[in-house]
Amino acid sequence: MQPSMRVIVFASQKGGSGKTTLSGHVAVEAERQGAGPVALIDTDPQGSLAKWWNVRKDPAPAFIQSVFSNIFYDLDSARKEGFRLVVVDTPPAVTRAISEVVNYADLVVAPVRPSPHDMRAVGPTVDIAEGRGKPLVFVVNAATPRARITSEAAIALSQHGTVAPQTIHHRVDFAASMIDGRTVMEIDPVCKSAQEISTLWRYLHQRLLRGDTAYRGEDAATTIENRARVFGRRAAHAAQ
Ligand SMILES: Nc1ncnc2c1ncn2[C@@H]1O[C@H](COP(=O)(O)OP(=O)(O)OP(=O)(O)O)[C@@H](O)[C@H]1O
Ligand SMILES: [Mg+2]
Repeated sequence: MQPSMRVIVFASQKGGSGKTTLSGHVAVEAERQGAGPVALIDTDPQGSLAKWWNVRKDPAPAFIQSVFSNIFYDLDSARKEGFRLVVVDTPPAVTRAISEVVNYADLVVAPVRPSPHDMRAVGPTVDIAEGRGKPLVFVVNAATPRARITSEAAIALSQHGTVAPQTIHHRVDFAASMIDGRTVMEIDPVCKSAQEISTLWRYLHQRLLRGDTAYRGEDAATTIENRARVFGRRAAHAAQ
């Protein structure tokens, strides 16, 4: 029997909200916390996540080269290869193709900056998730510590859906760590940014586990065995 695999899709129509940053960070953190093997898929033609992965030294999480039209087959192969979690980054748009990807999501995560423009842009993402009957979580990202607009944003977002209890604050290390293919956790595992990502992942993981006995019940031995198998032969490389 193939192990169960879960898919998180990062989506938001607003450019620069943090989809790519949080996709990479959540995938690495999931792997660090034992939810792997994890794979990343970049469906954005800008290829920011693929470029980040290409300069990364650690092969985990793996990268699966895919395009919208192949996503079903690539996810199916990932499942057969033994991946337990796939994190998909998407472009800043609302298109039929993104809506198709959301079809395969177990959880849709929409990063939102606490700004009026970002807040006003959440509608189409909510519509896509609702239209496909998928659970949606907003993550307030790049917030300024102690700014009133951050809590106001969380309150406003909660009228449209669930807001992750962990806000991700604006810190230079999120951008700086990704220059050489790393994440904040790999620069300093106890820094504030790393702690925020760790808490965010635990929350997202709980959301994936909720009511999901197949995924929850998989034993650690299978996971370790899968990870050895997957990384023993290293998954497909990202486009250059
Ligand atoms: N929490 C944060 N603190 C500081 N900088 C951040 C944070 N989150 C994202 N950024 C920076 O903001 C910019 C946009 O982030 P990112 O590329 O992740 O957004 P995106 O939603 O993927 O953008 P696009 O819609 O263009 O794909 C990047 O320069 C990134 O380094
Ligand atoms: Mg992006």
